Amino acid sequence: MKNIIVLVSGGGTNLQRIIDCIENGEISNAQVSLVVADRQCFGLDRAKNHNIENHLIPRGKTFSTALKQLLPEKTDLIVLAGFLSILSKEFCETFKGKIINIHPALLPKFGGKGMWGHHVHEAVLAAEEKESGATVHYVTPGIDEGEIFLQKSFSISENETVESLAQKIHEIEFEILPKAINLILKKI
Ligand code: GAR
Repeated sequence: MKNIIVLVSGGGTNLQRIIDCIENGEISNAQVSLVVADRQCFGLDRAKNHNIENHLIPRGKTFSTALKQLLPEKTDLIVLAGFLSILSKEFCETFKGKIINIHPALLPKFGGKGMWGHHVHEAVLAAEEKESGATVHYVTPGIDEGEIFLQKSFSISENETVESLAQKIHEIEFEILPKAINLILKKI
């Protein structure tokens, strides 16, 4: 049984999708063994509702060290699912190849500091992009710079809004994040 650790900062719909996929067999031979948030958020409630061990570690310089202490000895995969803190260089190096992030754009475009949630969609619309999408990538010390693992795009329509983009991108995330988790767990 593989242990997945999920880090959240927000509503946690991607966390919910992972939990649902484990329950319905779309993700096999795995469990979410720990959910950690860096702020009070609904993602934590989702973990509580499913009796998953959950902790709040306030964001800040000591987050990564505190997180490391909480991780089970057998940590197979750490999934950043709408997680907004930056993990330390040391943490990323220790867990190299075992941390993935879901990003709401087609990296390497629209990534980096400050590029999260609605900020990303606003920037995509302002740049009059023809397409957007979501990306699953490995996490390295550089923000949103790790190797891309999976990506899916769609064409932006003429009357697209931040809200409609967010909704379409969530649908794509719900498809590619479980897919990526399955593929990675099979490799390790
Ligand atoms: C997701 O769209 C995710 O890609 C994005 O936050 C949302 C979280 O939704 N992450 C980032 O912007 C990170 N740079 P959720 O809490 O409902 O899963």
